Amino acid sequence: MKVLVVGSGGREHALVRSLKRSPKITELFCAPGNAGIACDATCLPIKATDLDGMVAWAQDNKIDFAVVAPDDPLVMGMVDRMESIGIPCFGPRANAAIIEGSKVFSKSLMKKYGIPTADYAVFNDPADALDYIKSKGSYPAVVKADGLALGKGVVIAQNEAEAADALHSIMEDKIFGASGNNVVVEEFLTGPEVSVLAFTDGKTLVPMVSSMDHKRALDGNQGLNTGGMGTIAPNPFYTDAVATECMEKIFLPTVDAMCKEGRPFKGCLYFGLMLTPNGPKVIEYNCRFGDPETQVVLPLLDTDLFEIMQAVSEERLSELEVKWKKGAASCVIVASGGYPQSYKKGYPISGLNEGGQREDAEIFHAGTAFADGSFTTAGGRVLGVTCIAETLPKALEKSYAAVEKINFTDIHYRHDIGKTAVEQL
Ligand code: AMP
Ligand code: GLY
Repeated sequence: MKVLVVGSGGREHALVRSLKRSPKITELFCAPGNAGIACDATCLPIKATDLDGMVAWAQDNKIDFAVVAPDDPLVMGMVDRMESIGIPCFGPRANAAIIEGSKVFSKSLMKKYGIPTADYAVFNDPADALDYIKSKGSYPAVVKADGLALGKGVVIAQNEAEAADALHSIMEDKIFGASGNNVVVEEFLTGPEVSVLAFTDGKTLVPMVSSMDHKRALDGNQGLNTGGMGTIAPNPFYTDAVATECMEKIFLPTVDAMCKEGRPFKGCLYFGLMLTPNGPKVIEYNCRFGDPETQVVLPLLDTDLFEIMQAVSEERLSELEVKWKKGAASCVIVASGGYPQSYKKGYPISGLNEGGQREDAEIFHAGTAFADGSFTTAGGRVLGVTCIAETLPKALEKSYAAVEKINFTDIHYRHDIGKTAVEQL
């Protein structure tokens, strides 16, 4: 079969490297991909958000199956478009992708169906929002843009001035465009965070191994929020008892709620959870695989990913047994100095072989190009260095040993990925 993966980051590289192992796939394409992905699949210069271009290419080239990985094309309806010309997909249709595309939608869904989440209120006027925050008088206050905002639409305001600033830039300066027409103001929750990705065909839900992201740029959870500086799996805070509770109170009710709303969700549903003193609560839903969570979850998968994706698309996930490897995985993100703010690109990367890989780790390329015979940096997050081992400390030791053999000008990575997880073991 000819399979197309849409997207270009470390997550897409992890998807491509898993799919490549499927005996059913004869040709694998990725659009737009990157220099590392090009070692594993044929890359095409079509932007992930170019729905017309992508659909036309898939039709002309008789693609048998498409995997739409990023949030924007999903929310824009790429799956609907592919399906309308007879190409089956892995990923939700637009009417289900709204679970990530609109926080106003997802919060009201949770409220309607009694799914545990932070208390909240919705505003379309910044003055009303600020009055509400002032009347509550409890800080930090959490302000979220309704729509997609490149993962940057959440502000944890420590006082009234910060809340006013956030409301001003989101709702008046419109730094995230129309995504800031409405905001959600919600209660600040505390507790360990867990990411759970789950396969679902709209009826059956199969959670993947749990994971933990590290969103801040610097060691000790300091610095700005990023797309994610590293991940580990499984997440030791996510015990069997917590997993059972999440399945009963959050995962199955969500799948059910989406069906009842006439929006069956098919694809990977991401639950961003906080294990609060009052039980697990949903911080956010994503309509897709998490990045970089995918870079630790898929290496632990022991079932053919493509078989699972086909089963999801054909709504027969219940017939399949999804198996996981024993042990743990760690992924350390190697980034450009300055990320998530401004940084330079184009530096040659040393420590990779001609396939962009290493013997001692699996390398997922997030932002790389190829120039003058060398892989070069081409983004904020550059590489994800993943290792699996019997235990988390061993996996981390291997990831860091490999990271130390990789270099480029202004290289930056966190030195404490997995530290809180290891302390919890
Ligand atoms: P998001 O972009 O929705 O993943 O949010 C970014 C981060 O903000 C989350 O990973 C949490 O650490 C934090 N966050 C979001 N909502 C809340 C909340 N209600 N209480 C505390 N922290 C939150
Ligand atoms: N790692 C968080 C996300 O993919 O949104």
